[in-house]
Amino acid sequence: MKKRIELLCSLLFPVSSFADVGCDHGYCSEYMLSNGLCEDVIISDVSRGSLKKAETLLSRYVKEGKCRSNLGDGLRGIPKETELVLIAGMGGMEIVSILKEGFLPKNFVFQPMKNTKELRQFLLANGAGIERDFTFFDEKYYDVLCGTRKGDTIYSPLEYEFGRENLRERSADFLAFLAEKNKRDAALLKGELPAAAREEICARVRRREEVLRGCS
Ligand SMILES: C[S@@+](CC[C@H](N)C(=O)[O-])C[C@H]1O[C@@H](n2cnc3c(N)ncnc32)[C@H](O)[C@@H]1O
Repeated sequence: MKKRIELLCSLLFPVSSFADVGCDHGYCSEYMLSNGLCEDVIISDVSRGSLKKAETLLSRYVKEGKCRSNLGDGLRGIPKETELVLIAGMGGMEIVSILKEGFLPKNFVFQPMKNTKELRQFLLANGAGIERDFTFFDEKYYDVLCGTRKGDTIYSPLEYEFGRENLRERSADFLAFLAEKNKRDAALLKGELPAAAREEICARVRRREEVLRGCS
């Protein structure tokens, strides 16, 4: 199994009910069911073809009544009191729009593919708590956020941009991610750019350099 999926699974825990929104293959639901972490799992996807993959993988559990499938957009068809909701592999703005249309889950694991800052801002502006928030590497860099519907997390501007745990723990993956981003921006700065865009890129490179030097 890919490291990304293994890492997501390691963040899941025993619950009375679990929903895997945008489940596609259904590997994380399989982890919950095969390890006896939940006996009330919903696999959900907006695509019939994706859902079929998870239904096939989990047919044994569907027959046993431990897993049901839901063809739907976002949180449609997912009970608001589901104890743990996973949304992984979608853009951060797509996750925000799913939450706006639906609800903030009691407990969540979100793994946005981009726009993590906007997802952090939405979660904290809506009263959620963020308990884990870090970057990891599996052929490319990913962010993951875990938390609860209600919390008292307050982030600084740098924490919104980089994630609290990254700034505190300074993992090798996070520091390598910053260095890679700065390398890409340095290449951009060699080309022709409007003055405002150049200034914006320079400012974010400086912020990353400060974090890399441990000055944040
Ligand atoms: C890249 S796959 C990620 C699959 C799995 N969650 C993972 O992390 O490996 C994204 C899945 O989300 C589904 N999806 C995209 N937008 C969705 C939405 N608004 N509601 C439900 N599912 C959605 C897609 O059909 C696809 O199966």
